[in-house]
Amino acid sequence: MRPIQMVDTKNQYQKIKAEVDKAVIDVMDSTAFINGKPVHEFTAALSDYIGVKHTIPCANGTDALQIAMMAMGLQPGDEVITPSFTYIATTEVIALLRLTPVFVEVDEKTFCVTADSIKKAITPKTKAIVPVHLYGQSAPMEEIMAIAKEHNLFVIEDNAQAIGSEYIFSDGTKKKTGAIGHIGSTSFYPSKNLGGFGDGGALFTNDDELAVKMKMIANHGQSKQYYHDIVGCNSRLDTIQAAVLNIKLKHLDHYADARRAAADYYDKAFAGNKKIITPFRAAYSKHVFHQYTIVLKVNDKPAEFRNGLKEFLAKHSIPAMIYYPVPGHKQKMFESFAKQDLSLQVTDWLNDRVISLPMHTELDSEQLAFITTKILEYVQ
Ligand SMILES: Cc1ncc(COP(=O)(O)O)c(C=O)c1O
Repeated sequence: MRPIQMVDTKNQYQKIKAEVDKAVIDVMDSTAFINGKPVHEFTAALSDYIGVKHTIPCANGTDALQIAMMAMGLQPGDEVITPSFTYIATTEVIALLRLTPVFVEVDEKTFCVTADSIKKAITPKTKAIVPVHLYGQSAPMEEIMAIAKEHNLFVIEDNAQAIGSEYIFSDGTKKKTGAIGHIGSTSFYPSKNLGGFGDGGALFTNDDELAVKMKMIANHGQSKQYYHDIVGCNSRLDTIQAAVLNIKLKHLDHYADARRAAADYYDKAFAGNKKIITPFRAAYSKHVFHQYTIVLKVNDKPAEFRNGLKEFLAKHSIPAMIYYPVPGHKQKMFESFAKQDLSLQVTDWLNDRVISLPMHTELDSEQLAFITTKILEYVQ
């Protein structure tokens, strides 16, 4: 059996090596390392794929969120509603810009922020909502957009984990995640569904004004060379990354199919086991399984039981990860924002019980059989 990886970028690369190597060498030959032709080709192709008017490339997914919030002209003290159950990047940039993160609850089945929790958190200071399409499945965007419209709020979709996922509206229309809110952001970190050979990120919008502003912010607030109209930062997608991503974009839907096939295998193997809750697939979303995350339904010392599984798997050379061991509202960096009465019971419940299994495009049935057998041996 081939060694099992949490994410197998090596074997994925081998399958497209000739094409990717040529594209990278072409960039080196051209020496157009910054803002070269592949950057424009990739962003145009990505706009087409996502179904948006504008794609603004940047250096990583964290910068993308920061640039989005800067472009919205939010002021210190403005409140931004966001799930606590997410990667730190989502909430960190809120605090970095001296905005106030307002942590809200997620749904225990989808792991995504709920419309109800958003509604309850709205105050006169609320300016924006940042839903996260966690693990590859969309947050309930139709409801979120309706709330945003009613309260005149901005919506930034954190699509770092769900590029390629779709949202199906109640009238049957479909949109790719990242194209629904006022702005969508994503990450091309190597382990992401569309991963580069280093860091990268992008922003999506249909709003011409926001697009111009975000482009400027990502380039030192520059309107023309050496004329800086607004405060910005330096956040670029390198040409080499764009060249690699442009090739991988063509495979993205097949990659999602491969991930879903692995998820189907896991689902089947765990069906009927009372202690394993397999990932729920919401009817409104096409899941792209950035992660395959199970919830261990045990009440006695759940975190110990879950951590024990991780150790047991490690002994058999099976990697597994806890995404994420500490929720945002309990992170030290947010102590000053902690509200005494904040209780996120679902988030805390999930935090003790979730475990993410190997998930990528290269898993074969021998590996999947071994992983599931070992998990069932431990969980019983
Ligand atoms: C939900 C979420 N948001 C934002 C980011 C930040 O992306 P990056 O690592 O490219 O800065 C990540 C990536 O790790 C993520 O998973």
